[in-house]
Amino acid sequence: MSTSLIYRSAAGYELVMRALYGRHYAARLSAVADQVPANASVLELCAGPGALYRRRLRGRIGAYTGVDLNPRFVTRLRRMGASALQLDLSRAEALPIADVVIMQASLYHFLPDAAAVVDKMLAAARLRAIVAEPVRNLTSSRLPLLAALGRRATDPGAGPDGHEQRFDEAALDQLMGRYGGAVTAAFTIPGGREKVFVIDPRLR
Ligand SMILES: C[S@@+](CC[C@H](N)C(=O)[O-])C[C@H]1O[C@@H](n2cnc3c(N)ncnc32)[C@H](O)[C@@H]1O
Repeated sequence: MSTSLIYRSAAGYELVMRALYGRHYAARLSAVADQVPANASVLELCAGPGALYRRRLRGRIGAYTGVDLNPRFVTRLRRMGASALQLDLSRAEALPIADVVIMQASLYHFLPDAAAVVDKMLAAARLRAIVAEPVRNLTSSRLPLLAALGRRATDPGAGPDGHEQRFDEAALDQLMGRYGGAVTAAFTIPGGREKVFVIDPRLR
């Protein structure tokens, strides 16, 4: 199946994300960026059109590499001057090493084996892995148009093969329970739509 319409346009994608997160859109980026130490090297998985890099990380971190399945997003990241890799993370054996490895709003793509991806993040992270994941479903908005946009925005165009699954907070907490004391912070973003986990690979 071809890439969804929304994923074809980086600007369109960001507009939809803004509509879904409303006044909390900026806060979702800050919540993650605030966990990245200054000058750290960063590997961002499922980077999409690069909003986190462009709006919060550029200029205050060391090296940045964005990874995405979607070639349009990879091209966009490179146009911004970032290093970018087109990779299917469900198939990637190992990831480039970085101080901080980030994944925002994308872990559900790897259900039912999301833990395998978090394990790969921890194997690649020197200092911390940061996972921010929606726990209040963007696709179940009371407003039908927003719910439909949410479904489109979060469908990578890979086909109807399981991407309907999403996390709720209990399921995400259960997954993160695997990492025990290595989880050094866990909090929801303003508005409660995403929960952020910071995991220190050295404490596993
Ligand atoms: C909902 S978007 C999140 C984008 C960005 N992190 C954000 O928070 O706005 C999910 C991203 O994951 C990417 N993606 C989905 N499956 C993937 C896979 N198997 N490997 C790499 N990237 C994937 C999609 O192309 C898309 O850019």
